[in-house]
Amino acid sequence: MKVEFLKKDVSSVSADLMVVPCFRGKIPAWVHSELVKAGVEGDFSGEKGKAYMLPVKGKPYKRLMFIGLGKEKFVELDEFRLAAAKAVRGAKAARLRDVAVWVDFSGAARHSEKDIAAAIVEGALLSDLKLAPYKKKKKEERKLGRLSIVSGLDLGPAVEEARALAESQNYARLVAVEPANIMTPRKLAEAAKSLAKEYGFGFKVMNRAEMKKKGMNGILAVSSGSAQEPVFIEMTYNAGKKLPFVALVGKGITFDSGGISIKPSKGMDTMKFDKCGAIMMMGVMRAAAEMRLPVRITALIPATENMPSGSATKPGDIIKMYNGKTVEILNTDAEGRLILGDALAYAAEAKPDLIIDAATLTGAVLIVLGRHGIGMLGTDKGVMKEMYDCGMETWEKVWELPLWKEYSEMIKGDYADLKNIGSESGEAGTITAAAFLKEFVGNIPWVHLDIAGVEWSDGEAGYFCKGPTGKGVRLVATFLKKWCGKRK
Ligand code: BES
Ligand code: ZN
Ligand code: ZN
Repeated sequence: MKVEFLKKDVSSVSADLMVVPCFRGKIPAWVHSELVKAGVEGDFSGEKGKAYMLPVKGKPYKRLMFIGLGKEKFVELDEFRLAAAKAVRGAKAARLRDVAVWVDFSGAARHSEKDIAAAIVEGALLSDLKLAPYKKKKKEERKLGRLSIVSGLDLGPAVEEARALAESQNYARLVAVEPANIMTPRKLAEAAKSLAKEYGFGFKVMNRAEMKKKGMNGILAVSSGSAQEPVFIEMTYNAGKKLPFVALVGKGITFDSGGISIKPSKGMDTMKFDKCGAIMMMGVMRAAAEMRLPVRITALIPATENMPSGSATKPGDIIKMYNGKTVEILNTDAEGRLILGDALAYAAEAKPDLIIDAATLTGAVLIVLGRHGIGMLGTDKGVMKEMYDCGMETWEKVWELPLWKEYSEMIKGDYADLKNIGSESGEAGTITAAAFLKEFVGNIPWVHLDIAGVEWSDGEAGYFCKGPTGKGVRLVATFLKKWCGKRK
């Protein structure tokens, strides 16, 4: 879908469909007169979630669609993403290809028109994505051709940035939907390589032998049961010397069977999503480049399968991690923290100003926050406050959990420095996992995002279809924009 901004009057825009979002009880006069002309003025008053389509004559657009937002006082920014998704679905159902959305509220009370335009672009692009790459296509695919944001105000830069963010999120979703037999660690490295080529990133991959030389035994222990070679991907974006420097680390388990501590077979297929932290960081890199953020980024992605076999790691095994700490592996299903431990220690060596990691790390975060929140833990309160604000803005919401010293006690080992689970019963599972990661970041400010609850949608929900959501891409890219803007 092509996205454009037009600084025009609504009456001069040619499109198949003109969409007008309306607050309840605050319908523009010209909209009201269109309803009167059609003799249906009682049918629409801007109720939240209601869409109403009218054929029009003598206008450069063929149809008008009004979308109700509810009372202006209570409207969240996310309502505009939802409204855009509704418009996209309505347009597709009516076989209309070119959609324009009118964004001019002559001063909306709660949100700026820039933010509203951005939200509409995001909702439209995210809802337009199809995610069934291996399903036989129906003869005629219904796709949108063009989305035009129309306003008397200057919203061009906001539209452009939202396009970069949403397209990067869709990129992540397209990589994430690939199953484990196709998206092996090697294939993930290839995907990263073509991204690097397209955007001019620095790119390096380490194989098993190189990781062995470096002593990255966390990654090697997890991969030891798999027939697929593990990889350690390193990508760099550098907008200039002396700019703020951030390291991004993403969990890239292309399939998590649990290993010898094997998972129940019911629902095990969903563990192809265990690579979403890695892919999220690829999406953030793409967005940063598209937005030309004044920042330096190193993205580090340890990628491997976690499989059981005769050569697999066994419960009770003890390994030495990249930073020299020893770990007793009591449960081979707590594998994410092992590959991340090595990657975080490697990241810390480069002395970035900040490390952000993202991982589908614990089932426990689903117990705490369900499917609506990202668990956030870390060592820098200021950064976490900013991340929280970005969560509310992007609606990729985060919630902080504590990292008190008592939780670090829970992962002290009996036979090694650390053990890879807190307790058999899983008490505070999300927190003990983060406490484990903390052992590897040294004194570098660090934020961890446990995204296990939010990366997969079980069905059509809002502007997402069934499958990977790519959540976190807009969150972290938006955060980076603000963070480097302040530090320049
Ligand atoms: N990839 C899983 C986390 C997960 C589990 C995400 C269920 C979504 C749904 C992770 O590797 C894992 O298996 N974690 C274990 C840790 C436990 C063994 C301490 C978990 O959360 O059960
Ligand atoms: Zn696991
Ligand atoms: Zn896992």
